[in-house]
Amino acid sequence: MNRAAIGVYDSGFGGLSVWRELRRLLPNESLIYLGDGKNCPYGGRSREQITTFATEAVERLVQEGVKMVVVGCNTATTAAIDYLRGRWPDMPIVGLEPAVKPACLTTQTRRIAVLATEHSLRSDMFLKTAERYAADVEVVKVPGEGFVEIVENDMEHTVEAQAIVRRVVEPLRGKDIDKIVLGCTHYPFLREAIAEALQGENIDIIDSGEAVARRVEWLLERYNIKAPSDAVADLKFITFADEQYRLRLMRKAQRIDLQSGL
Ligand code: DGL
Repeated sequence: MNRAAIGVYDSGFGGLSVWRELRRLLPNESLIYLGDGKNCPYGGRSREQITTFATEAVERLVQEGVKMVVVGCNTATTAAIDYLRGRWPDMPIVGLEPAVKPACLTTQTRRIAVLATEHSLRSDMFLKTAERYAADVEVVKVPGEGFVEIVENDMEHTVEAQAIVRRVVEPLRGKDIDKIVLGCTHYPFLREAIAEALQGENIDIIDSGEAVARRVEWLLERYNIKAPSDAVADLKFITFADEQYRLRLMRKAQRIDLQSGL
């Protein structure tokens, strides 16, 4: 048993889609959410830059005394997860991988699409996962241009957002694709807009949030560091941006909790 918090980190608001699943599955766990904000978006940056940002973030979470780190960002995972695990060998560090495996195992048409940042789509981790599970499946790679900015500006439910999403997603219509993998943690906040742009198509939209939360639970049990069942979750928000950004993160997390009935 261990009452320390789990640290959840992302370039900005995206990791809150992972937060949502963690809160639902593990409501007694205290969480510290670090949304970088200052250096967001990460998607077009180099591996070295992203590794520097991720290292600073994990360092900060370690100073906060967390018992585990969840890198709630596909881009930071693909760029830096091996480095982070090497640098903090005693800290369980969970990364985010696009749900290519479940999509490949369930596709009927043998054609899937992965929506992610440019950096993630170029990364070794993505190519290796695609090679391993998608040898006989065609994977269409689609950078979600403009998606992160929509979420960072709280614009998910606007006409502009719908137009940006439609421009990226509409070319996937009529292509015999039956699964779309959301390979960036910001994108689940655009699930409705994506579904609307694909209306009439028989396509499942898959993200990794729930699977990651289950992995976290499994690790907490394995390391025997789960919070006791009478623990009351303490929730904290930090950022490398300004106080206004920190408050926006907190409010969005509160809305998510409310929607989940927490
Ligand atoms: N949320 C991120 C991801 O999962 C990063 C988005 C960005 O900063 O470009 O990839």
